[in-house]
This record gives sequence, C-alpha cells and structure tokens, in this order.
Amino acid sequence: MKEFNICVLPGDGIGPDVIEQGVKVLDAVAKKYDVKFNYQYELIGGVAIEATGVPLPEKTLETAKKSDAVYLGAVGDWKYDTIEPHLRPERALLGIRKALGLYANLRPAIVYPELVESSPLKRDLVEGADIMIIRELTGGAYFGEPKGIEEKNGQKVGYNNMIYTEAEIERIAKVAFEVAMKRRKKLCSVDKANVLDVSRLWREVILRVAKDYPEVELSHMYVDNAAMQLIRQPKQFDVIVTENLFGDILSDEASMLPGSLGLLASASLSEKGPAMFEPCHGSAPDFKGQNRLNPIATILSASMMLKYSFNMDEAADDIEKAVMKTLKQGYRTEDIMSEGMTLVGTKEMGDAIAANI
Ligand code: IPM
Ligand code: MG
Repeated sequence: MKEFNICVLPGDGIGPDVIEQGVKVLDAVAKKYDVKFNYQYELIGGVAIEATGVPLPEKTLETAKKSDAVYLGAVGDWKYDTIEPHLRPERALLGIRKALGLYANLRPAIVYPELVESSPLKRDLVEGADIMIIRELTGGAYFGEPKGIEEKNGQKVGYNNMIYTEAEIERIAKVAFEVAMKRRKKLCSVDKANVLDVSRLWREVILRVAKDYPEVELSHMYVDNAAMQLIRQPKQFDVIVTENLFGDILSDEASMLPGSLGLLASASLSEKGPAMFEPCHGSAPDFKGQNRLNPIATILSASMMLKYSFNMDEAADDIEKAVMKTLKQGYRTEDIMSEGMTLVGTKEMGDAIAANI
C-alpha cells in the first residue's frame, strides 16, 4: 500500500475547524484508493507561542521538512496584535514559506456554476471565470532587506525593500508559463513598471523567459489596472503571474469572483522538497469553534495536494467533483448561502463532501 506522510499544522482560530474537515475528506480518499496518509500534527502560530514561546518551533520545521506535504489551516489572533513583530504568528507563516523554499504560490479562483448566485458581481460577468493567480512567495517587500523602523532627523521612518534577483523572477516565470501551457495558454504578468525599477526588471525577465514559450500569449498589465480589470472583465484572464505583495492583494480581490474567501485554495511549491497546501483565508478568530465557516477552501487545498504532491490526479478530481456535487445538493455555509439552499455548518459541509467521495 502506498503511504504518504502529511505534516498537519492546524494553527489558530478556525484553522483546526477547517483542517478537521480536510482530513475527513482525505480519509475518504484513502479508503477509496487504498493508500495510507500518516498525519503528523505540529504547532504553528499563536498556539505554538503559547506552548513554546515562539510561533515556529524547530520541531515543527523538522517534521515539515521530512514530510511528503504540509497541510496548514491558518495562523493569527487579535491577541498578538501588540506582540513584538518577530514573535507575531504571521512570522511563522513567512518563516515556513522561506524555510521550505515555497516560492510559487498557486491560487485558483474559479466560479463554479453552482455558486454564481453567491458572487456579489453580475452573473454574466463572472459565470465561467477560471483564473489561476501565481504569486511569487519568498521575495519582494515581504522579505527584502534593509527593512525596519528607525529614528531619522527627529522622527520615525519605516521602510521595506521590494527587491528581486533575476533568478527569482526567472523561476517564477517558468512556473507561470508551464502552468499556462497546461491551461488556455494565456499569461498576464502584473507589475508596476511605469513607476518601480524592480518591476522594470520583472518585465525584462518575463519577456526573456517568454521566448521559450512561443505558444503562450503573453500580456503585461500594471497592478492598478489589473485590480480594476479583475472586476470589470474577469474572464479575460487565464493565468496571472505577479510578485509577492501584488499577488497577496489581487488574490483576495479575486476571491470575490466566486463570492467568498472561504472557497479559495492554494498550493505553495518549491524547487525540491515538500509543498504546502493552505486555504487563502485567515484564522478568523472570532469564529473559532462556532461551526460556521466554510471548509471548502481547505478541502480544495487537499485536492491540490493530491495533484501536485502525490500524483493522484484522479483522486484530486474526485474531491473537486464531491465539492460540486455537495453544492448541487443545495448545501451552503453562511458565506455562500442563497435563497432556497440548505444552511449547514463547517462540520456538516465536511461530512457531506466526504460522503460524496
Ligand atoms: C496570505 C495571507 C498572509 C500573507 C498573511 C497572513 C501573512 O494574507 O496568505 O495571503 O500576507 O501572505
Ligand atoms: Mg493574503
């Protein structure tokens, strides 16, 4: 029997609630496909601070590095808003991304036919939209040096550095072109090359890599325009590639095409070693344990795990189909509730999807 070791990091807030549903669905997959998933639970974020004093304990990183894939819920709690910056739960997320070299973050925003009603946008605008946002995840202003807050001429100044090497741009560009080749062969690179030097280099390298992919129709867009176009005409996009901070912002925006951040899955890939799978949403600490939030993003992240880390394409499709079927059966969590549907909680949504595997 095939076995896979999954490092499970439920984290804070609703993280454990949604991860429980994802594991439930993975268990259903294991049964059907006669594989074994070994789950190793570790601490990350606020729960790790409580137990060990740091948001990303060494042991967590060790288990993650030895695993075949990492499955993460969410980190963060209002409680830590005033803690020293290097101890914040979010640091753990950035830390594990960097430590595992997870430079390529794939965030699909798909408007499933069943969910057209839950989008705040007009039906004909979003119906059939299917976008893959590829966000560079280990560079840019998130990690650039120098950074800090210091005293200068009698007042404080704060600064970060949006910095990319050619090599960093080149490797994310390659991922983007490869993904585009497997889809509709359209790639839009988003930058701010009219203002930022780092973006001018970004564009130069993208154009260079493009020469190896003559079949891909490449376009460039400034990030402000891209933010507008995503709402104005989302169906013009197939694959979008962009740097870390722009990708953070545009992917939250894209979640409003299907209508909820609770639907957006993600995969973070490295050059070698385990990949990480997590929903794009945060920890929503106010909803912890209330059985109200949508587990679909986390469940679809498990589907991406099967596809990208375990080569189990058919099982990955099964999860997507099970999600679709569950929606067709009329089950909705409150974030995607619409008239005539059956309102269910986090657990019941997980049960229904697992039953449909
Ligand atoms: C995301 C989140 C994180 C990010 C936060 C929690 C650090 O917003 O994954 O998009 O900014 O990358
Ligand atoms: Mg974000």
